[in-house]
Amino acid sequence: MSYLEIKNFNKTFSDGFQVLKDINVTVEKGEVLSIIGSSGSGKTTLLRCINFLETTDSGTMVLDGELLIDGNIKNEKESALREKRLNFGLVFQSFNLFPQYTVFKNLTLAPTLLLKDKINGLKKTIKSRKERQKLFLEEREKIREDCRTLLKKIGLEEKSNSYPCDLSGGQCQRVAIARALALKPKVLCFDEPTSALDPELTGEVLKVIKSLKGEDRTMIIVTHEMGFAKNVSDKVVFMADGIIEEEGTPTEIFENPKSEKLKNFLKNVNEKDGD
Ligand SMILES: Nc1ncnc2c1ncn2[C@@H]1O[C@H](COP(=O)(O)OP(=O)(O)OP(=O)(O)O)[C@@H](O)[C@H]1O
Ligand SMILES: [Mg+2]
Repeated sequence: MSYLEIKNFNKTFSDGFQVLKDINVTVEKGEVLSIIGSSGSGKTTLLRCINFLETTDSGTMVLDGELLIDGNIKNEKESALREKRLNFGLVFQSFNLFPQYTVFKNLTLAPTLLLKDKINGLKKTIKSRKERQKLFLEEREKIREDCRTLLKKIGLEEKSNSYPCDLSGGQCQRVAIARALALKPKVLCFDEPTSALDPELTGEVLKVIKSLKGEDRTMIIVTHEMGFAKNVSDKVVFMADGIIEEEGTPTEIFENPKSEKLKNFLKNVNEKDGD
């Protein structure tokens, strides 16, 4: 069994439009999967379903042996979904940083809130309030240390006390990546992480993502950067009109495409890039 197994995902929006048609995807641990395809083919919707931001009408998703999505089970509790969602990190095109908080607080906020919840849940086991507070402070220091390490990793140690409005787009996106990593997800997902950036800032973000591959992280990347997909992926999936039209290694997809739709897609991309 693969690390992540998505089977028979189908989704129709309330207006009757079927956006996902029997999607099957597998990703191995430490593998990078890129999803490419023209606008409107369903890439973001698939990523949103994987991240529990949309529900699928049918299908299953198993991660690390655990059944996380079962299309037959409807109306799951929000608390259960929140817990499952923590297996995944999602980095958006538009960063979505909290503008009112410093870079450091953007990183520490969610893990600290989760820690608070966890410690509150221990009221029965640890009866003394003082003991719980001590544990909270110890664990919070570990979070802060982790976040300092992450800031170092993305090369933004000196921006720890800056606010997002004082950063460049590329720096904001690097912070968004570190913020997702601070929650220690099993799978990190990206939805066009560089498409809101000026070309000269794209490289620094792609470099950070590439360095994560070196750390053996499992990643799913929706991207329009074909050169990057070719370079960083273990596997590439090409979506067209809600189906997986073709999948393979980067060499198979980019050097030896089989379907006419993929051939046309690559031709259009190359023409746009002036190749
Ligand atoms: N909430 C919704 N209700 C109805 N249709 C939707 C909804 N969200 C997305 N769609 C439609 O589903 C299709 C797929 O959208 P999606 O955002 O998944 O495409 P995409 O492949 O990510 O495209 P892009 O490359 O432009 O980001 C589009 O035709 C879109 O208009
Ligand atoms: Mg999209």
